Amino acid sequence: MKIGILTGGGDAPGLNAVIYALTRICTYKFNCEIIGYKFGYRGLYENNFVTLTPQSTSGILHKGGTILFSSNKDNLFDYLVDDGNGNMIKKDVSDVAVANMKKEGVDVLVVLGGDGTLTSARDFARKGVNVIGVPKTIDNDLASTDVTFGFDSAVNIVTENLGRIHTTAESHNRVFVVEVMGRNAGWIALLSGIAGSADVIIIPEIPYSLDKIVEKIKQRDAVGKNFSIIVVTEGAKEKGGQAVIGKVVSDSPDPIRFGGIGAKIAQDLEPLIEHEVRSVALGHIQRGGDTSPADRILSIRYAYAAANLIAEKKFGNMVCLKNGRMDSVSLEEVIGKPKIVAPVNELVNAASAMGISFGA
Ligand code: F6P
Repeated sequence: MKIGILTGGGDAPGLNAVIYALTRICTYKFNCEIIGYKFGYRGLYENNFVTLTPQSTSGILHKGGTILFSSNKDNLFDYLVDDGNGNMIKKDVSDVAVANMKKEGVDVLVVLGGDGTLTSARDFARKGVNVIGVPKTIDNDLASTDVTFGFDSAVNIVTENLGRIHTTAESHNRVFVVEVMGRNAGWIALLSGIAGSADVIIIPEIPYSLDKIVEKIKQRDAVGKNFSIIVVTEGAKEKGGQAVIGKVVSDSPDPIRFGGIGAKIAQDLEPLIEHEVRSVALGHIQRGGDTSPADRILSIRYAYAAANLIAEKKFGNMVCLKNGRMDSVSLEEVIGKPKIVAPVNELVNAASAMGISFGA
């Protein structure tokens, strides 16, 4: 059998670990040939690929990013092409991708991605392509799996950085607002906020009020804690307010990029308290660097489960983790099902019971 792999959407620590493990398992255990398409679906359209072997993928297990490159712009079912007269038009070019796979003798396509990338994976499955999905995103916002790879690494990075913010905040009696990724899901802020001893955690699922944040800071002042750390998810909003849009990427299927809520909260808060306020947006630092050991292991488990699905010819599925065990779910059931933090959640309750404010 010949297997094609591609990585789509924003990069996440663990992509290389899946490529590494899948290449080894499919080569050694199942005697398959493996190629990797470059830049996600664009590589499939342009037939731009590299051969993957245990030798060519050696040394990448721990590395963040993806040796196959990625794009969060290319949807081959609605793809920007030249109409022949110099005009750019959107067109379904998925047949070109299918023809390219046939030409190269690719029997199975393994797609590593989040909701957007997996939507196209489902659409290729509907066209009769043998597809296996592997769930990736630092945001951990896919309902069909307990946890996506990349999330643990992001939580580690944010937690470590909260420690750094703590020492400078304390030294200057300042309030810091730390903006983290996650889009409309507060998982990164919730877990790293708890692990990193934040005083206030603001997530999109629980709209905040400034009064409540001020109340928490004043409570801390009253007991001699003259600094405070607020962690906020990029997609959070004030009660009755709107999320803050940082950038519109017009040629992306999902064009909105959040950004700026941390700076907004800092600006709104400063006149109301007796502290200088600073904001820090951790941004893409959260996706960079090495993959955490837990994400390396999770990625290897996903790769092994994906290889077994291929061997059993159970196509059209995504590998997933259910109650700690590897499982699979139809790609038809995966799409458009976001996993957000329920406002009444064990971790939210535990954090509240410890005195962490959610600004509500
Ligand atoms: O979905 C992953 C993610 O990192 C989000 O947390 C973030 O909002 C977005 O991607 C950033 O996208 P880009 O890489 O296009 O800036």
